[in-house]
Amino acid sequence: MTFDFDTPVDIKNAHASKSDFLSQVCKVDADDGLAMWVADMDFAAPDVVKQAIIEETKRGFFGYYGIPDTWREAQCDWLATRHGWKAQPDWLTPVPGIMFALALVIHKFSDPGDTVAIFSPVYHEFAKTIVANGRNVHNQPMIEEQGRYRMDVEGLARDMPKNTRIIVLCSPQNPGGRVWTVEELREVADFCLKRNIILVSDEIHGDLIYPGSTFIPTAVAAPEVSDLLVTLCGATKTFNIAGTKIGASIASNPKIKQQIDAGLRASGTGSPNRFGMAATQAAQNHGAPWLDALIPYLETNRDLFAKQITRAIPGVRAMHLEATFLAWTDFSATGLTFEDVLHRINKKARIGVSPGPQFGPGGENHIRFNIATHHSRIVEALDRLEDAFSDLG
Ligand SMILES: Cc1ncc(COP(=O)(O)O)c(C=O)c1O
Repeated sequence: MTFDFDTPVDIKNAHASKSDFLSQVCKVDADDGLAMWVADMDFAAPDVVKQAIIEETKRGFFGYYGIPDTWREAQCDWLATRHGWKAQPDWLTPVPGIMFALALVIHKFSDPGDTVAIFSPVYHEFAKTIVANGRNVHNQPMIEEQGRYRMDVEGLARDMPKNTRIIVLCSPQNPGGRVWTVEELREVADFCLKRNIILVSDEIHGDLIYPGSTFIPTAVAAPEVSDLLVTLCGATKTFNIAGTKIGASIASNPKIKQQIDAGLRASGTGSPNRFGMAATQAAQNHGAPWLDALIPYLETNRDLFAKQITRAIPGVRAMHLEATFLAWTDFSATGLTFEDVLHRINKKARIGVSPGPQFGPGGENHIRFNIATHHSRIVEALDRLEDAFSDLG
């Protein structure tokens, strides 16, 4: 089976955040601006997903959706086949997005004024959601060793406030692209067990793994923490269907599961979005060949970007990604101020990116580039960056 990742999708009038907000958020006003920020891919979703939505539309029935066993089975089969996790269907709750589920867990398992800990730099919405819910954030900066991050669990034990109720893990890590090892996951899990802290494992990037690394769900790596564990996952990043807003919360501890279900009811969220459910099931039941073709395509982008960015801008280095399509790039050795770096990227190169500081301590002087785009756009972006920083050479 062949798949076309080279033909741009026509997103004019598609209300795509990534392009519609390019000017407002990234200050890239040019008509030829390149959007390398929001974590959507520039590829069309697999045909099997498009077909499922067409079928749903043809029928013409758009009423409330009953949560079918088929959704649970699709998610469980996917996890068992791809990641060796035999999650039971009754551990699953469908949620309208990962961040919704995180907010719900925060509500249910902590009180206002309590602390939620994260390893930074990390997906910026974690801290925002924690604060928006009246809890404090404890950022535990990761340690960079030989160009890769590791979680500082010792530091966490030393620095974490006593009122920390929840630790949120990003597995694999966004940004930085680490695929955590069994030992690393166990270390965090043991820590949670000793202190009786709820562990949330956000595994939404868990399918986007490059050859040479193996993603292991926290529930598999550290089954001993299962009673305190909530895993958040789904098909949205994998198949580029984030706008369909369906994710899965998985908790094997029935008490935790009940709390999550109660929280969902309390939120007024009843039956899930039928298009999201159709898209998710089609993707997980039939989309594996598309994903298997996508990974080498992204791998080529990853390698090209990492190699050429260092050549294009002296001193700049992209962290080696074991997972994700989010290239985490360090500009500190350019000697430029961060404002200057960002200005050159936005205004001279006309590229919209995610500024590193928003990901918390450790993100200073970094830029996150979304490289899930056509090869030709990576080449174009690198050419523009080379021009924008040509005086450094
Ligand atoms: C680690 C991580 N978690 C959650 C999300 C957002 O998920 P959702 O749109 O389902 O809330 C993202 C989006 O980029 C992400 O990178």
